[in-house]
Amino acid sequence: MKTIIEPFKIKTVEPIKFTTKEERIEILKNAGYNPFMIPAEDVIIDLLTDSGTSAMSSKQWSGIMDGDESYAGARSYYRFEQVVKELTSFKHIIPTHQGRAAEKILFSIFGGAGKFIPNNTHFDTTRANIEYSGATALDFPCKEGTDPDYIADFKGNIDLDMLEDFLLKNKNSVPLVMLTVTNNSNGGQPVSMENIKKTKEVCSRYNIPLFLDACRFAENAYFIKLREQGYKEKSVREIAKEMFSYADGCTMSAKKDALVNMGGFLALNDDDIALKARNILVVTEGFPTYGGLAGRDLEAIAQGLIEVLDENYLKYRIRTIEYTSEKLINAGVPILVPPGGHAIYLNAKKFAPHIPPEQFPGHSIVCELYLHAGIRAVEIGSIMFGKYDKNTGKHIPPKMELVRLALPRRVYTQSHVDYVIEAIIEIYNNREKLKGYRFTYEPPILRHFLAKLEPIL
Ligand code: F0G
Repeated sequence: MKTIIEPFKIKTVEPIKFTTKEERIEILKNAGYNPFMIPAEDVIIDLLTDSGTSAMSSKQWSGIMDGDESYAGARSYYRFEQVVKELTSFKHIIPTHQGRAAEKILFSIFGGAGKFIPNNTHFDTTRANIEYSGATALDFPCKEGTDPDYIADFKGNIDLDMLEDFLLKNKNSVPLVMLTVTNNSNGGQPVSMENIKKTKEVCSRYNIPLFLDACRFAENAYFIKLREQGYKEKSVREIAKEMFSYADGCTMSAKKDALVNMGGFLALNDDDIALKARNILVVTEGFPTYGGLAGRDLEAIAQGLIEVLDENYLKYRIRTIEYTSEKLINAGVPILVPPGGHAIYLNAKKFAPHIPPEQFPGHSIVCELYLHAGIRAVEIGSIMFGKYDKNTGKHIPPKMELVRLALPRRVYTQSHVDYVIEAIIEIYNNREKLKGYRFTYEPPILRHFLAKLEPIL
């Protein structure tokens, strides 16, 4: 059989509220033309993020009932610890309420003024936590990764020459190197095993620890199985274990590849660092055996980490994104290629070339997706990453203007996806009608969250 089906049956359903276009025109206007301000109830298909939006399995829900809520030494912690240790082989497993809490602890220890933290590409919260500590976050994406049209298997890789060159000159100011798998801010592109291994070799030469930002480790491992020589016959679990074996620790947002709605952890080998981390944890998150989570959450994470490595699940997951991208490419819609693991990224520069970056072409597509079909997506372009020249005040756009449509795990069926494809193609076929936008309120930081805009008529 050729058809790949959803590897689950549906036991509980949540109704979708349908809105009319007239209603959506009002809703979007009331939201200040900012998708983050739209009540989720008024969204038909929500592709804002794949984070914390997974559907849990019946086994995860029974784990929720079975959670041990003891303050110290809960049974659920030991199950969680055992599953994470078996997967990562790290010695110390420190639960946190989500990924950025693990980052905050890590960079409270490793960060500080005058330090530099290189990565393939930092996610915004990682960058923010590094900068908050006074350190500088550096992105060294490989060359292929910066071209949305270039086809390559592992566009998430770090540029090893840039890394080596930087370490050669600045090794005493680099306390840690990170690799984000998959590379979310660069199109959800995977990192190859060879690149992880070589990054470790470079780090070892300078005696610098390597940490993975492991949010989407299972999707990355599956891409290695599909695309990298020598891994076809290996199980995804074996591949994931090998990925972790080259690192000295990891931060994890369980909201992605642990298939839960909340949770995360910091895991590492060094005893002294772990002690420091646990001391921060008790002040900021909670006692080391719950760290900001309920016992039931730890049960659900443990179960999710087992389920996410089911190869039938990963086959369906990656195929969903691939299927969507094939249909869009066939209709001529410009998207970032090849598609990554968790999202489709529309190339807004090519989609709406008549809208200049300072009028936010990606945002215009995001608004139209909502107005046309009630779909919520997010702009990753000039609104999120645009800057101003200090001297001239001129807008400096980022390299790419993208719209991310992130697929929650196990939530939508193929007909939901077909609906999204149809909407994008219809908007693309009428793209000359898309209008630019301008700010009516521009927040000083992370402006995409709280900005208010209006269409330029
Ligand atoms: N690292 C990566 C690569 C991420 O994608 C995220 C979150 C985090 C760290 C932070 O984890 O949300 O649990 O604190 N990404 C979400 C997204 C928000 O929509 O891509 P968190």
